[in-house]
Amino acid sequence: MSSSSSLQIADDQKGYDLDLFCVPRHYEKDLDKVIIPHGLIMDRTERLARDIVRDMGGHHIVALCVLKGGYKFFADLLDYIKTLNQNSDRSVPLTVDFIRVKSYCNDKSTDVVKVIGGDELCSLSDKDIVETGRTMQTLLSLLSESRPKMVKVVSLLVKRTPRSSGYRPDYIGFEVPDTFLVGYALDYNEYFRDLSHICILNDEAKEKYKV
Ligand code: IMP
Ligand code: MG
Repeated sequence: MSSSSSLQIADDQKGYDLDLFCVPRHYEKDLDKVIIPHGLIMDRTERLARDIVRDMGGHHIVALCVLKGGYKFFADLLDYIKTLNQNSDRSVPLTVDFIRVKSYCNDKSTDVVKVIGGDELCSLSDKDIVETGRTMQTLLSLLSESRPKMVKVVSLLVKRTPRSSGYRPDYIGFEVPDTFLVGYALDYNEYFRDLSHICILNDEAKEKYKV
């Protein structure tokens, strides 16, 4: 199987009723459906970790987390890689670094991609979601200036959208419909990062948290 294969969440996937899961009280009225339950995110992440360790052989990895939206995925992916490292004959040495990018206001991409931080070369970057691919392409051209030996991009989500630049990460968790998603560190104007499941926001909430 190619490393870029992913779990497809279909366009007509209706999602799950909120009542079937635990969501924080303060968000109960803001969400429409659960699209990817936390357990499924974890199961898929576990497999991505296995694929990455297999492909990296014994290479040292500098894992670069793209904040803020990537922080949950980064931590969980690294935990799975650590578990593999301590339970098998082959292991991948790891160091970590963090970078912050910002391009969104409300549920729309803005023209400026701001990048802050990051002080090492990287060979693995970790991302929350790729929509148009613009954020990742900006970051990749920046990283190439430090001439890393190899750069691999892992993204939990890739959105199927006509706005896509065609950019595809090396490892993808899920491919999702062209709707705005929140939870598992993905935000709407900084809200909803403290939600475990990936969910669809309702229109009232978009108004309520608008800036
Ligand atoms: P791109 O540059 O269009 O690929 O957008 C990627 C960035 O936009 C991500 O890192 C997120 O910060 C943000 N983004 C895109 N789609 C969503 C979404 O559905 N929910 C939350 N943030 C999103
Ligand atoms: Mg955001």
